[in-house]
Amino acid sequence: MSDPLRIGFIGGGFITRFHIQSLLQVRDCVVAGVADMSEESAESAAALAKSIGVGPNARAFESNEALAADPEVDAIWVCAPNHARVEIMQAIRQGAQKREQPLKGICAEKPLARTLAEALEVEALSKEIGAPTGYLEDIIFAPSLVRGREVLWRRGASNAGRPYLARAAEEHGGPHSAWFWQKEIAGGGVLLDMMCHSIEAARWLLTEPGAPRNSLTPVEVSATCANLKWTQPKYANDLSERYGGEVDWATDPTEDFARATVKWKTEEGQTLLTETSSSWSYVGAGLRHTFQLLGPEYSLDVDMADAGVKVFFSREVSGDAGEDLVEKQNAEQGQMPLVPDEPAHYGYSGENRHFVDAFLGRTKPRLTFQDGVEVMRLLMAAYQSSAEGRTVDPSTPSLESYTPFT
Ligand SMILES: NC(=O)c1ccc[n+]([C@@H]2O[C@H](COP(=O)([O-])OP(=O)(O)OC[C@H]3O[C@@H](n4cnc5c(N)ncnc54)[C@H](O)[C@@H]3O)[C@@H](O)[C@H]2O)c1
Repeated sequence: MSDPLRIGFIGGGFITRFHIQSLLQVRDCVVAGVADMSEESAESAAALAKSIGVGPNARAFESNEALAADPEVDAIWVCAPNHARVEIMQAIRQGAQKREQPLKGICAEKPLARTLAEALEVEALSKEIGAPTGYLEDIIFAPSLVRGREVLWRRGASNAGRPYLARAAEEHGGPHSAWFWQKEIAGGGVLLDMMCHSIEAARWLLTEPGAPRNSLTPVEVSATCANLKWTQPKYANDLSERYGGEVDWATDPTEDFARATVKWKTEEGQTLLTETSSSWSYVGAGLRHTFQLLGPEYSLDVDMADAGVKVFFSREVSGDAGEDLVEKQNAEQGQMPLVPDEPAHYGYSGENRHFVDAFLGRTKPRLTFQDGVEVMRLLMAAYQSSAEGRTVDPSTPSLESYTPFT
């Protein structure tokens, strides 16, 4: 048995708490600690790791650089807001220069940054640091999709020919922190925040298991962004009140709806399509999170909200608003879906199991920062397509300096 991988988290908010909970299902790792701009968040995430037994010595670090330099940290998971990716990678570089033992790996949450230029900078910094990287896209580790894809390709595609269309949608009522709604911090709206999941999931579903990423080439992107709900005066006002005036969607919105069609070519010249849609203007019991993969004689349907359990509360039952049944829960009464094990169901457990194995040298990372850059290239092509009302070739070099909303 190898020594456990000691993970340091940068950013101690919502997603770090999900990752920490998922580590209950991951062997050979412990949480070394958490660095956060807010001491309270760092302390609270470290306390969570301690309390559930995945980080007996987990502590709050005083800075990102101190965490990166610490000999008791082997690998780093970057889970802070999007605008801080470059600055955090610079701090990791500073910290790494003080280490005797090199870092075993650096993971970063989706999206890799705010723009393609920044994503390329993040990737370049990781090369300077010299550690293996992991791009955190949980969905391609979700057990329902992993198993569905495996069966479809093994029984369906091998008999009847490869799949040609993948659809992915991720929709909910809007994110939980002010910064997601602020373009200078988030870099964009729902297209950047959630279509990164859908585009990568759809590409992965269409890719033959074991084949490299470049076996499919994206050749055209067409997209539409819109503001359907949160720019309406009542809802813009609600947002502003919710975040103490920090968010102004009446005059400075990003987008709360996006759809994109990407045309792909196989090495044999066959055309494939992915259709993705994302929204923060969907109100249902929780997340609407669906996937389809279609081929000549078969199809796959996955609805992530359907985990096999539903509960019903009559109007006589009232309780506090919460997310205790399902992420992005919108109601406490009526029929509600229940997801018994969210960290496993959405893929966080599988994702972290994989990257722990990869950074312990047992396998190659399935997704690296380079893959995060490729996802970002498609997202920037989608923004440009929507802004200019035309189809965009994602290999266009000018996307490397493209900034949405300018
Ligand atoms: N994979 C997923 O499904 C998923 C879900 C949610 C969020 N995310 C991604 O995770 C990242 C964090 O999102 P979140 O929901 O946890 O946000 P959050 O607002 O809940 O938490 C962010 C935390 O980062 C801290 N922070 C801010 N700037 C920092 C800096 N420079 N250095 C260190 N800490 C800093 C904040 O104080 C806060 O505690 C985002 O990039 C987001 O896109 C991914």
